[in-house]
Amino acid sequence: MTLPSHVKIVEMGARDGLQNEALINTENKVNFINQLSATGLTHIEAGSFVSPKWVPQMADSKQVMEKVIRRPNVIYSALTPNLQGLEQAIEAGADQIAIFTSCSESFSQKNINCTLMESLERFIPVVERASSLDIPVRGYLSCVIDCPYDGATPPEQVAEIATLLLDVGCIEVSLGDTIGTGTPIRVQQMLSAVQQVIPTQQIAVHFHDTWGQALANIYQALKMGINVIDSSVAGLGGCPYAKGASGNVATEDVLYLCRELGIETGVDLDKVAQAGWDICKVLNKEPNSKVSMAMRG
Ligand code: HMG
Ligand code: MG
Repeated sequence: MTLPSHVKIVEMGARDGLQNEALINTENKVNFINQLSATGLTHIEAGSFVSPKWVPQMADSKQVMEKVIRRPNVIYSALTPNLQGLEQAIEAGADQIAIFTSCSESFSQKNINCTLMESLERFIPVVERASSLDIPVRGYLSCVIDCPYDGATPPEQVAEIATLLLDVGCIEVSLGDTIGTGTPIRVQQMLSAVQQVIPTQQIAVHFHDTWGQALANIYQALKMGINVIDSSVAGLGGCPYAKGASGNVATEDVLYLCRELGIETGVDLDKVAQAGWDICKVLNKEPNSKVSMAMRG
């Protein structure tokens, strides 16, 4: 068994995290992202340009992205569901954008108010416009294991939609276990179906930790050669359209796992943990990370 020598962390705390936490002010978000920028992280998802009626927590993403002190070695990305969102992301100076859809019809309807195929059609002009400005596009795929409304997702369906996202022009597909029900065997089956049609270097994993399986699932993904992992400082967040879903796997937990496996991340665990404690103070909650709690003692 060979594990990757290096893992890239895509930090979700400021987007997937804060989109499902209590509203906090712009300055606190800016401070949070600035603090994360100094940890060695190279990709921070800084916000999303979606309808403020749907996700009020992200309504100030433009101001946040404009105020953040940019580091040249860090990618600051944002979610854009349509052209309207993309134009705002461009104005805000997003380095990379992300489009998002689901493997299941019902989740697509609940999350972005259209069918899966409609969403892919909607993304074509978004990717064209982003590409014309040399802005790379990441693709997210939700419900790769189970959908809260439609049940289990067949691995072949994940492979099919992931291919369509690459066909549209995404540079990478992030496979989301949105409700965190996955376990290593199911993750293995899903990933091997996707790996049959997509190069491993274009696959990222995005595991929510609702059932406490995210680290086991990440270990499974690492064993299969995947080396891009989405995670959220202090395990912040959840998903507003997946009832009961908890946040992404905590960045602190992933960093500790990687360190102990001898995998390089380039990220300073102590600094990330500090950022987690500081944002949790603002949110008036405890970090949802075993490693963070153990470090605090
Ligand atoms: P819609 O209602 O179908 O869109 O929403 P519409 O085009 O008919 O527009 C309706 C209203 O929204 C209009 O305003 C538009 O201007 C406005 P009104 O005339 O009523 O005042 N609008 C916008 N405003 C700001 N920015 C925009 C925008 N677009 C339209 N970009 C839409 C469609 C996609 C906009 C809506 O469904 C939406 O915003 N959904 C939110 C989706 C979301 O943010 N979900 C959470 C993130 S995804 C996620 O967390 C999963 C992930 O982490 C992976 C995983 O874990 O699985 C990525
Ligand atoms: Mg998510």
